[in-house]
Amino acid sequence: MTSPHIGSDAAPDQHASTAVAVAAEKRWALIVGAIIASILAMMIFTGLHYAAMPPSRVETVDVKTLHIRGEFVENNLGTAVEAGGKVVVRLIAQQYSFTPQCIVVPAGSPVTFRGTSSDAIHGFVVGRTNANTMLIPGFVSTFTTTFPKAGEQLMPCHEYCGTGHEAMWARVQVIPREEFMARAKGAERLSCVPR
Ligand code: CUA
Repeated sequence: MTSPHIGSDAAPDQHASTAVAVAAEKRWALIVGAIIASILAMMIFTGLHYAAMPPSRVETVDVKTLHIRGEFVENNLGTAVEAGGKVVVRLIAQQYSFTPQCIVVPAGSPVTFRGTSSDAIHGFVVGRTNANTMLIPGFVSTFTTTFPKAGEQLMPCHEYCGTGHEAMWARVQVIPREEFMARAKGAERLSCVPR
């Protein structure tokens, strides 16, 4: 390599540096092209995959008749022990509260939550447990979890739903299973909302 003089003998150097720059540009163009191509390929794949195999277990519910008929009418909300001993909690979220405001569940056995929203998108998480879901108008959210130990947990709304969002929360009382079953005998639907 010749030293980079300025003057009449600088021309070959300039050619060399131009060649280096062009090579670098080409390399980058290839890398960027490959990134764009892989993103497009991903979009096409996920689009086709979704169209070919739509998500299963999607349950819809009519928001307009939520309070009139179906499983989310007011006297069906709360915790129920269903045939076969399955524990199911049904709840509704609305701006800015949950119904019921206090949920009671047994410790150490599986609890299935079924919930929906009557207005905006809400969500909840129970304390530091893995009980966590979004509640979307028109859809039923469901999951099953087990609370290992008894105690009271806070259940805040965790999807921004309007000006009252930060004041939207309920309580979850996890009680020993025997106590829960004794209480469940006397009631169709359990909750710990004071009467
Ligand atoms: Cu409901 Cu945030």
